[in-house]
Amino acid sequence: MRYAEVYKSWQEDPEGFWMKAAEAIDWVRPPSRALFDEKAPIYEWFSDALCNTCWNAVDRHVEAGRGEQPAIIYDSPVTNTKASITFAELKDRVARLAGALAARGVEKGDRVVIYMPMVPEAVIAMLACGRIGAIHSVVFGGFAANELAVRIDDATPKAIIAGSCGIEPGRIVPYKPLLDGAIEMASHKPEFCVILQREQQRAELVEGRDIDWQDFVADAEPVDCVPVAGNHPSYILYTSGTTGQPKGVVRHTAGQLVALNWTMKNIYGVEPGEVFWAASDVGWVVGHSYIVYGPLIHGNTTIVFEGKPVGTPDAGTFWRVIDEHKVRSFFTAPTAFRAIKRDDPEGKLIENYDISHLRALFLAGERADPDTIQWAERVMKVPVIDHWWQTETGWAIAANPLGIELLPIKYGSPSVPMPGYDVRILDQEGKELPAGELGAIVIRLPLPPGTLPTLWNAEERFIKSYLSRFPGFYETGDAGYKDEDGYLFIMARTDDVINVAGHRLSTGAMEEVLASHPDVAECAVIGVADELKGQLPVGFLCLNAGCNRPHEEIVAEVVSLVRERIGPVAAFKQAVVVERLPKTRSGKILRGTMVKIANGEPFKTPATIDDPAILDEIAEALKTLGYPKG
Ligand code: COA
Ligand code: AMP
Repeated sequence: MRYAEVYKSWQEDPEGFWMKAAEAIDWVRPPSRALFDEKAPIYEWFSDALCNTCWNAVDRHVEAGRGEQPAIIYDSPVTNTKASITFAELKDRVARLAGALAARGVEKGDRVVIYMPMVPEAVIAMLACGRIGAIHSVVFGGFAANELAVRIDDATPKAIIAGSCGIEPGRIVPYKPLLDGAIEMASHKPEFCVILQREQQRAELVEGRDIDWQDFVADAEPVDCVPVAGNHPSYILYTSGTTGQPKGVVRHTAGQLVALNWTMKNIYGVEPGEVFWAASDVGWVVGHSYIVYGPLIHGNTTIVFEGKPVGTPDAGTFWRVIDEHKVRSFFTAPTAFRAIKRDDPEGKLIENYDISHLRALFLAGERADPDTIQWAERVMKVPVIDHWWQTETGWAIAANPLGIELLPIKYGSPSVPMPGYDVRILDQEGKELPAGELGAIVIRLPLPPGTLPTLWNAEERFIKSYLSRFPGFYETGDAGYKDEDGYLFIMARTDDVINVAGHRLSTGAMEEVLASHPDVAECAVIGVADELKGQLPVGFLCLNAGCNRPHEEIVAEVVSLVRERIGPVAAFKQAVVVERLPKTRSGKILRGTMVKIANGEPFKTPATIDDPAILDEIAEALKTLGYPKG
């Protein structure tokens, strides 16, 4: 079947489409039907089934004769380590960790926070939780103690599993002091912590609370998979919203199994047994779906890569990994390619490697600019496929489905909606817009299996944030348009979320940190276009009357405050002091106009502006930071 037929078959019979996809999953008790809409607008999938994520990702492959196939290839240029773990070994290690957790009282439904670098043990920890029905919440290592504390308080984990340190190029990041700080800050205290001691930096253990991973699993009895209901949460993953309080995206077990398994062949074009690589981090949704669950559920070998696209040791690292491990389908963020292109503009380093077995490069996480796509096409000589999705959806809303049919590529577009997604473009009043017109991108409810059913302990917030503005639709928070052929173009966010090096960040959260500085009366943070990272945050500070401290000092203080409270991943390094912020007469800060000034884009002075002269002051302030560029 071609794409159009597959999409139509879903439109005509969504229930039949997903029940058919569900046949590829091992069930303890198969679902009696696909959609459960009794609690609409909260929709669930396969709720009455019984199943287990770990069984489907690990055990069933051993049973099916894939025991000796590598499940995980660990490739870590930052520690000079390579290792391979077969499905049989993975089963053993996961079952023992799961047994150790169960022996310490972790049960179905308990939460476990995982704060780890890119090592196989991170994947093992996630799968061990799934094995016993515990709900994991992985926190990205680039977040600071305070962000970790916020997640601990929201998820209230029984246990935390952490690494002693992470390794960034040129420095070791000790995770343990961040963990200790977070537990101290949080009101909720975990019962115990399991610490993976890495030789690069061992951690001091807190007596009575912390256990060394090796000791923890040493005498552990392996346990079997615990069947859970189809609508049992597999995990909670926090993502940035408009405020400093992140949103706890919930993923249900059965929907995730069915949807991710479907995508591996149909979108990414891989067969079981082949090697799939997503160069991301387990702390992000890309890591959850395409380092861990998607490939393993489908019987693919996955790569856990601990390194960067450049500098570990050079811009040829990706080519080496693709060559050495015979990667068939590769997924990363455009920013990684911009970094490679900057270091090796001619793409010369690829000549040292053979990547002829690679079928395609997939890009997501941020807008893929046509220059980057064309450069990658030229250097890699494979189709470069942009696809669009979000933490909330867990898998692609729009893509070019390589495994079904490679549709003509249109630069700047992630191509077409995937089955399950009825994507519409609406105006402010909720009226559908014709092709070519820019509006809010929404998806008609219900969302497909594998997407978020709700937010953790925050159903009201879920409904308010995503379902209220356009009744009957899920609001993606992205703006864009469809062309005459139904291709989507994703142009901007409609909220205060920015995208820095493929990392989703909240300017609102940064503003909360700036506002907490004793000399700051008022502030704004905007995302300014950046050649490498897509966007970079820039802060504007209005100081309290009478504050006569040097501005550089205050700027330096707020920069370190953001690093301390949110983490280095915020990449917040620029701020400037201004007299006033441009506002509408009703007091709304005109961030959009400020962004346009910073980017050197044409703009109209908003009719509602309180005092247009302030825009000139903002332009002057931005000049001192070197904006607009070029
Ligand atoms: N633990 C601790 N610190 C981390 C971290 C982690 N897991 N990940 C990143 N950081 C730190 C970095 O060291 C950096 O610190 P610095 O300010 O001291 O330099 C800071 O957070 C910002 O990181 P990043 O935005 O990643 O910038 P970078 O300059 O280190 O690297 C790229 C730039 C483009 C090479 C890098 O962003 C990259 O490889 N991106 C790939 C995209 C990706 O993985 N996206 C995920 C979604 S698909
Ligand atoms: P995250 O939840 O971190 O995956 O970020 C999701 C957001 O990143 C989306 O809502 C978009 O704003 C942006 N995004 C992700 N993929 C793309 C893409 N292919 N093109 C444009 N924007 C994208």
